[in-house]
Amino acid sequence: MKIDVVTLFPSWFNWFTQQRHVQNAVLLGHEIEFMDLRASTPLGAGQVDDTPYGGGAGMVIRVDVVEAALRERYGTAPPPHRTIALSPGGRRFDEALATELAAEPALTLLSGRYEGFDERVHEHLASDVVSIGPYVLSGGELAAMVVMDAVMRKLPGALGHDHSAVEESFSEALEGAPEYPHYTRPFDWRGHTVPDVLLSGDHGRIREWRRERSRERGR
Ligand code: ADE
Repeated sequence: MKIDVVTLFPSWFNWFTQQRHVQNAVLLGHEIEFMDLRASTPLGAGQVDDTPYGGGAGMVIRVDVVEAALRERYGTAPPPHRTIALSPGGRRFDEALATELAAEPALTLLSGRYEGFDERVHEHLASDVVSIGPYVLSGGELAAMVVMDAVMRKLPGALGHDHSAVEESFSEALEGAPEYPHYTRPFDWRGHTVPDVLLSGDHGRIREWRRERSRERGR
């Protein structure tokens, strides 16, 4: 998979790209690149935004600036693959969307700042508008990292051993429910002990107990 991130703050992603599963994905041949909107703006003095028509507070990222960044990179705008604008008003990001996006060969993530993008970016340059939750962040960078994290850990091999992502929260294996509780040593912590079934060695019972706890949490 090839992921390009359009941002005004590429350095925000330095920490993210150093994380183990991201580096694993890169070693496996997946690619992440960052495109600084200011580097390709056709306007003077690195301008990328403008005041909103109709008045009001804040600045809006211009559609022609986003178009220029995409054209410079792909020779065409919109790009020839799925392009996601991060915005609090978009489709809510969830595990199903993460799975869907993990199957794409290429993604472009557009992270906005200020009051967000001119609406024509959503309408004509992005294929999807995605929100990570019903709250307003100061920009789309953290949202882009959330989306990349959830998508990249689904890439085969990214977690180190393939099994880790199969039976986890919201997976098909758990019928979309949250994951069952986990326990490890000590068996008895201040009088709070581990459920006996987990020490029974009866794998059928353990599987059944886990499914049941997972279903309960999903209700
Ligand atoms: N940009 C600002 N807030 C956001 C959110 N909740 N989701 C996605 N992008 C955002």
